[in-house]
Amino acid sequence: MTDEIKVPKGLANVVVDRTSIATTGASGNLLYRGYRAVDLADRKSFEEVAYLIVYGNLPSGDELVAFRARLNENMKLDERTIKVMDILKEKDIMRNLRSIVSLIPYRNGDINETFIQMEAKLPLISAYSAHAAYGKPMKNMEGEFFAEKFFSMIADPHKKKYWKSLEKLMILYMEHEFNASTFALRVAASTLTDPVSAVTAALATLKGPLHGGANSEVLSYLSGIRDEKDAAKFVEDKLSKKEKIMGFGHRVYKKKDPRAQYVKEELRRIAPDDPKFRAAEYVENYMFEKKGIPANVDLFAAVLMDFLGIDEVFNLPVFACSRIFGWNAHYSEQVSDNKLIRPAAEYSGPEERDL
Ligand code: CMC
Repeated sequence: MTDEIKVPKGLANVVVDRTSIATTGASGNLLYRGYRAVDLADRKSFEEVAYLIVYGNLPSGDELVAFRARLNENMKLDERTIKVMDILKEKDIMRNLRSIVSLIPYRNGDINETFIQMEAKLPLISAYSAHAAYGKPMKNMEGEFFAEKFFSMIADPHKKKYWKSLEKLMILYMEHEFNASTFALRVAASTLTDPVSAVTAALATLKGPLHGGANSEVLSYLSGIRDEKDAAKFVEDKLSKKEKIMGFGHRVYKKKDPRAQYVKEELRRIAPDDPKFRAAEYVENYMFEKKGIPANVDLFAAVLMDFLGIDEVFNLPVFACSRIFGWNAHYSEQVSDNKLIRPAAEYSGPEERDL
């Protein structure tokens, strides 16, 4: 037996490997390949940031055109995929995403091509899932840009002028170093399994309410909060029952989640009087005053998507459709300098005994 190293539960603060893709940085800012994610959200398109994350540098004009074209030409579903979704009628869109993505073939062992397939198809699978399960009309895909196309399929057409707000949110959701779903993907990749299987593991992990699933649980409580008093009562009630409030707290951001603050300001710009936005701020203020726990990105992301007329069933799929570009980069990084991820455990079962 080699020497054992004991680490804290949940691997909190344990550095398990190196990455050049993103960091939450000494400054508390989230950096993608060195650039502040909030600056990228302000000034770059979703495709430019996706390219940066996957390939390590911002694209030239020609590279961007080619990357966009590759995504666009794969933004379609084949008959078999549609048929399976029609049969499944799975109401939980994330379960559907996880199942349907796992059917995408691993093309000729080509990692890049396989990721493009998954990245391009995820928005369509999300939109079609809701159509198959809830009979929602399948809206036509419109526009030129990735986020714009996704917006046209899932958001309120009357809010079309705000599609770039969705794009900004998707940029901020794109990557977050060794978060749980990315780590699950890296564990899978470290066995040298194929990218489709690794993404399936990541989707399954993202779905949990302590990770991506939080953004689907925020609106239900915000709709009952009209003023500061309601907010205080809600927080007190949850804390007294020792229940977690979704959209608050973070393993890494203990004082401030820069993504949450960015999306909050975006909402202040486009929807200052939205009742759920006000409710979110009331809860944020009380929670910080009472427990010192900051809002995370999911609190304001849920409000933004609600304002854009995006049905709550799509909240988590939006996260997945962005984060897959981060997973792409991490898959390549893991396999390019691989060591099987296989920790040890402290055994707490019965002593060895005779049968
Ligand atoms: N509501 C109430 N109390 C909380 C919350 C919360 N949302 N988050 C943390 N706390 C308390 C927790 O009860 C604990 O208190 P005590 O020390 O008195 O026992 C203390 O803060 C530390 O919490 P922890 O759960 O040990 O911290 P962690 O770093 O393991 O957990 C977390 C981080 C995200 C799992 C947790 O904050 C949480 O469950 N939040 C709610 C779920 C959520 O919003 N998730 C989205 C995260 S952002 C999107 C993403 O990147 O995935």
